[in-house]
Amino acid sequence: METRLEDEVAFEPPEDFVAQANVSDSSIYDEFAANWPECWERAADLLDWDDEYEQVLDDSNPPFYKWFTEGKLNASYNCLDRHVENGDKNRAAIKWEGELGETRTYTYQDLYREVNEFSAALRAQGVEEDDVVTLYMPMIPELPIAMLACARIGAPHSVVFAGFSAEALATRMNSADSEYLVTCDGYYRRGDSLDHLDKANEGLDGVDHDVESVVVVDRLGGDGFDRDLRDNQHDWDDLLAEHDGHRVEPVERDAEDMIFLMYTSGTTGQPKGVKHTTGGYLSYAAWTSHAVLDIEPEDTYWCSADIGWITGHSYIVYGPLALGTTTVMYEGTPDYPECDRLWEIVEKYSVDIFYTAPTAIRAFMKWGEKFPESRDLSSLRLLGTVGEPINPRAWKWYHEHIGNGECPIVDTWWQTETGGMMITTLPGISTMKPGAAGPPLPGIDAQIVDTTGDEVEAGRAGYLTVNKPWPGMLRTLYNNDERYISEYWEEYSDTDSDDPDDWVYFPEDGAKIDADGYITILGRVDDVINVSGHRLGTMEIESAIVGVEGVAEAAVVGGTHDIKGEAVYAYVITEDGYEGDSDFHERIIEGVNDAIGPIARPEEVVFTPELPKTRSGKIMRRLLEDVANGDELGNTSTLRNPEIVEEIESKVNAQS
Ligand code: PRX
Repeated sequence: METRLEDEVAFEPPEDFVAQANVSDSSIYDEFAANWPECWERAADLLDWDDEYEQVLDDSNPPFYKWFTEGKLNASYNCLDRHVENGDKNRAAIKWEGELGETRTYTYQDLYREVNEFSAALRAQGVEEDDVVTLYMPMIPELPIAMLACARIGAPHSVVFAGFSAEALATRMNSADSEYLVTCDGYYRRGDSLDHLDKANEGLDGVDHDVESVVVVDRLGGDGFDRDLRDNQHDWDDLLAEHDGHRVEPVERDAEDMIFLMYTSGTTGQPKGVKHTTGGYLSYAAWTSHAVLDIEPEDTYWCSADIGWITGHSYIVYGPLALGTTTVMYEGTPDYPECDRLWEIVEKYSVDIFYTAPTAIRAFMKWGEKFPESRDLSSLRLLGTVGEPINPRAWKWYHEHIGNGECPIVDTWWQTETGGMMITTLPGISTMKPGAAGPPLPGIDAQIVDTTGDEVEAGRAGYLTVNKPWPGMLRTLYNNDERYISEYWEEYSDTDSDDPDDWVYFPEDGAKIDADGYITILGRVDDVINVSGHRLGTMEIESAIVGVEGVAEAAVVGGTHDIKGEAVYAYVITEDGYEGDSDFHERIIEGVNDAIGPIARPEEVVFTPELPKTRSGKIMRRLLEDVANGDELGNTSTLRNPEIVEEIESKVNAQS
């Protein structure tokens, strides 16, 4: 394994980049610190408010912070109407490319029109302000259209990643009491059409309350699956035709009204419904898009994430559209039909700014330089990464082969919960150090501490904490204030105190800081595995495996993986001490696939008669991680059954 510590090379942003950057004066750090929290007016100023806010921050009841109190605004208005009104109606808002090569361009006027029509359609289906609408859709333009339509009528959306299973959809609809669903018949993956409605219907069968209405987009057209829609199911195109030309006034939302829910994995088996609000979230998404991604309205900007994750929410939809730029959306995989697909898209649309994940970069490296070299990438001005630590070798490859040795790279650390970027260099200001995300953004107060909360010395590993609130932060977990406190605040806060200085946010990441204040993220410190930049809870996967007939117990850990960063390793005890044949192995993989989705499929399943346990009966996951990584085994002396670790190790070696 390559070590990040050994790498000390630093890169400066080129002068011509700095000269045009949205933010290029380093005094911004001091200015924000000296003027906190009023500094955040700068973010709010990027939006149009129906009613001005009274207070930037109300911190009277930590950790239930309120931002831009009494302010009123509408996110759909800010992403659409104001650009149409300001003379930009003919600018492309979304340039979409399907996997099979078909393209669609929506100008701001087109998007405005379709969002209005779909808003009217949602209302006609009975959706009222504050009703949660679930969107279970792949990367098709109807997804951002549905999101903005929800925002327009003040109905929070809950987007469920299309790759998630029927069961995952049902769990999320049940948790959010969501009575409305927008989905589609299917979509393309590597040239094949996938049946999505079948999965959606199976999910709907698991919903524990009445579902009022389901809207189905016909993505596949003639290739579609032959099936009748259920009674409460409506065709998207029919609804739009019924509401042709309709206009819906954007609803005035309070700054603190929910804009959306986004479910994410945590330590327990139950996904957490992260609640974001209209004023704080949107201003933070817009501000970071402006300051970090350096987006200008004239740019063509592309984030290759899926909108089913927070990255797509903040940096495909809300941030870029709030700034009035052109955002590119691609439906498919990066290697279809060839491994140069992404570079073909960069060339075709003359993309200025490109934002992706380290896992993708490692795959590009493996495929080889010849793919980017065969395309003209000279339009690129800035590159970004997100989702997991980037190793310096991948960073340098990205810089050299995609950025032509010139484009600055922003390595952005943030989370579903933070709403937007928190730790990264500012591309018009900072030196870049491959492997280190950078300093906290202006106005963000982060520290690396030990278990008692004291700051650790530069270079030492510790825990990342955030000591002041920020506008894009989650406000709570849906219907669960207690879990909000216990998951994020309890660890380092004095929970009896009303003083905001006594409250510290804990993102559950390990990190270290260097003498220049640059933070290197070391990875999760909870039972969460980061597979290709996607967060998966080990408990969720374990309960899926235990649900498979014949399984008695399971332990899941993350092991390092060349491309995915981390991969899922499952250790399984069968009910009858049975050895587990390939059929059983397959059933376990399918069990995980059905309960969560293909991203959670174990890389390896190892059958074992026992799991390594302490005398008090706790599974020693650390040792299982050592086995998964092929590392030297840690201390086994506190185990009740030390011999089992070597047995598991020899099984793994035999399997690989
Ligand atoms: O461990 C960190 C890792 O991804 C986690 C957040 O995952 P999620 O909520 O799914 O959001 C991903 C996209 C924002 C973090 O707790 N992570 C995210 N970005 C980075 C990172 N780790 C290292 N470097 C990053 N740039």
